[in-house]
Amino acid sequence: MRKSAVIALAVAAAVPAVNAQEGQGVVGSAAANAAYSCNPATCVPPACFCPSPNPPGGLPPQKIPQFMTLTFDDSINSVVLPIIMNITQSHHNNPNGCPLAATFFVSAQFSDYWNVQTMYGLGHEIATHTWTHLNTPPGPVEINSAIETINTFGGIPKSELKGFRHPFLLYTNGSIANVAASKLLYDSSMSLDYTSFPTWPFTLDNGVPFVCDAIDCPTQPYKNPGLWEIPLYNLRANPNNSLNAAMDPNPIPPAITANEADILTVLKYNFLNRYNSTRLPMGLYIHAGLYTLFVLNALAVPEPAI
Ligand SMILES: *[C@@H]1O[C@H](CO)[C@@H](O)[C@H](O)[C@H]1NC(C)=O
Ligand SMILES: *[C@@H]1O[C@H](CO)[C@@H](O)[C@H](O)[C@H]1NC(C)=O
Ligand SMILES: *[C@@H]1O[C@H](CO)[C@@H](O)[C@H](O)[C@H]1NC(C)=O
Ligand SMILES: *[C@@H]1O[C@H](CO)[C@@H](O)[C@H](O)[C@H]1NC(C)=O
Ligand SMILES: [Zn+2]
Repeated sequence: MRKSAVIALAVAAAVPAVNAQEGQGVVGSAAANAAYSCNPATCVPPACFCPSPNPPGGLPPQKIPQFMTLTFDDSINSVVLPIIMNITQSHHNNPNGCPLAATFFVSAQFSDYWNVQTMYGLGHEIATHTWTHLNTPPGPVEINSAIETINTFGGIPKSELKGFRHPFLLYTNGSIANVAASKLLYDSSMSLDYTSFPTWPFTLDNGVPFVCDAIDCPTQPYKNPGLWEIPLYNLRANPNNSLNAAMDPNPIPPAITANEADILTVLKYNFLNRYNSTRLPMGLYIHAGLYTLFVLNALAVPEPAI
């Protein structure tokens, strides 16, 4: 829902690791929470899963796919849909022949439910992102009214609406508990510096294993048995610098205007870094506006190839 004039990648040598999302700077969590513990002998899948840098079930990394998630946030309507479909319906298939599937964290306000239904029908996941996208940690009404509205007008079964992302990634112990109380399967709102604290998605049975970036973390428990957290993993510009892996063009200096080659370099580095080691999932969390600007910027360089 935000538009700006340039795509900018911050190569942040002089500022702390930053992983801005939804227009605000959020420090990607990097340190372990000393108060946390999880016993894999008692926390047993699928109901419970301890955080781990390694693939589930003791599987060797070479035996598993490199999972990637592609997520879009906010309302879905005729303004953003063609931009998104240019990516998701681009006829690039997975190796097993299945088309690319994205997850849409839909905010109910300003959404066109015919468009929501179209994306669901094409095999994408529809998840929720509150009703009005307030700048405060959401209460039950914001969470549940979005589920009701998307179910009623989009025709998406409630059993398929499994995921939630906090607007502006603003969460507290209380709002995470509200997500659990709405019987959702997972939250995906906690940003994480994957190089310092790599972990696969985990359940919140024992709380949060890293020093998360919420205002009341880690002093509050965040214990919600059975609720999964799929962290938002940051992207690194190179081994030494942090990158502002923003959903939006980055306003934080020292920013550089990225061209197609810069973006490709960053994506390849982050992909191979995982692919060559533990195959930690990789995510791209974006607003449609970033793609628009990317296409315009990429077209501005000599000899574009998109
Ligand atoms: C989709 O991408 C093509 C180039 O591959 C471009 O010509 C077209 O304008 C794009 N459409 C939208 C809606 O962005
Ligand atoms: C954290 O949330 C849970 C669930 O609502 C609640 O029981 C608990 O009291 C909260 N913890 C604190 C310290 O507020
Ligand atoms: C990262 O830092 C190390 C040690 O200072 C240096 O040797 C290396 O060249 C740097 N790599 C990049 C890509 O800047
Ligand atoms: C990953 O492995 C490839 C092929 O062996 C190598 O070219 C690349 O430099 C490695 N990249 C990283 C980030 O580890
Ligand atoms: Zn949002």
